[in-house]
Amino acid sequence: MQFNNIKSKFPIFKQNIKGKPLIYLDSANSSQKPKTVIDEISRFYETEFSNVGRSVHTLAVKATNKFEETRDVVKSYINAKHREEIIFTKGATEAINLVANSFGERFIKSGDEILVTELEHHSNYVPWHYLREKKGAKIKFASVDENGEIGIDEFKKQISNKTKIIALTHISNVTGTVMPLKKIIDLARTKKIPVLIDGTQGAPHSAIDVQDLGCDFYAISCHKMYGPNGLGILYAKKKWVDELPPYQGGGGMISEVKKDEITYANSPTKFEAGTMQTAEVVAFAKSIQFIKDLGINNIETHESKILEYGLEKLRKNNSVNIIGNPKNRASIMSFTIKGIHPHDIATILDDDGVAIRAGHHCCQILHDKLRIPASARASIGVYNTKEDIDILCEAINKCKKVFQI
Ligand SMILES: Cc1ncc(COP(=O)(O)O)c(C=O)c1O
Repeated sequence: MQFNNIKSKFPIFKQNIKGKPLIYLDSANSSQKPKTVIDEISRFYETEFSNVGRSVHTLAVKATNKFEETRDVVKSYINAKHREEIIFTKGATEAINLVANSFGERFIKSGDEILVTELEHHSNYVPWHYLREKKGAKIKFASVDENGEIGIDEFKKQISNKTKIIALTHISNVTGTVMPLKKIIDLARTKKIPVLIDGTQGAPHSAIDVQDLGCDFYAISCHKMYGPNGLGILYAKKKWVDELPPYQGGGGMISEVKKDEITYANSPTKFEAGTMQTAEVVAFAKSIQFIKDLGINNIETHESKILEYGLEKLRKNNSVNIIGNPKNRASIMSFTIKGIHPHDIATILDDDGVAIRAGHHCCQILHDKLRIPASARASIGVYNTKEDIDILCEAINKCKKVFQI
């Protein structure tokens, strides 16, 4: 598969927005879906749909097999060692909540420390805040520097003998900073501290090998990986899936239920209570196929080229202030323009069919540190081209004219 005609694989690009071709620069928020994924959802509902893991009739067996096939596809894609390490959730948010609840319930007590960073999305902060309130734990923050980076020394400084878990993002959804994961995980391992990676922005852009990384948990958001909405994945090392208590109670996750005693199923079932997303899980195998057909390393190279081109063009525009200047950046350009609110930028750009995001991007701690309430963010996916960046930059200039800047 080639990048030059890739928009044709995504039905959404057939339409115009306000009479202009759609320039979609909001993939960090949610990516568009290729036709193969959309078709798979329809095919599954039309020919194979049934609930999974319950009935024994033909459709139920077919659906269950398909569902479990995706687990194997994910296992091999991220190079997990065991299939029970792959847990389906409703998003990366739920995956992180699962760990904060189950790990927190068993291993966090009053005075213990949880180390996060100032780059975290609320999804990787608020669940730890709940734990802080519930257990009297303390949250420490690794500080971000003026380039939007957090070096290993900052982690060394913040880790103490009370640190019980480190939870950090793979790639910042505001600055695009690619975190030095290997170094941080290696450091944590020498101190026997488990590490959770919020891989929401990492997995769509780079190859993931959880065994090589050595992380304990890795959270994935399928809707940012050209996959269906309402689906996420938690990779959790075998040791943890065996040890951690269930997160939610309900059908499917039990072994035996008596009036006075309940025993639980093994992982992954133990962590997948209630009716699961079926079509979404089945179709996600097609998203991975789509990524594999392009090649994740080719995707990384393609997106880096567009990113470099975009950064260069935006830097030439004196009114645009790009947030962060990390040495290792992926696919994300957040910026402000003095005198124009980011929501106004996004609204005016929309008139030219350019879709970006404006707001705090669920990163208020970072925006507070930057002393800005919000920023505009253009984020890159497989379908973006240099022409998209040209149109973005022209639209920004129009926006400046409207505000007479
Ligand atoms: C860095 C980061 N973490 C977590 C999330 C939440 O992911 P989900 O929508 O799968 O719950 C997002 C979504 O924007 C994100 O960018």
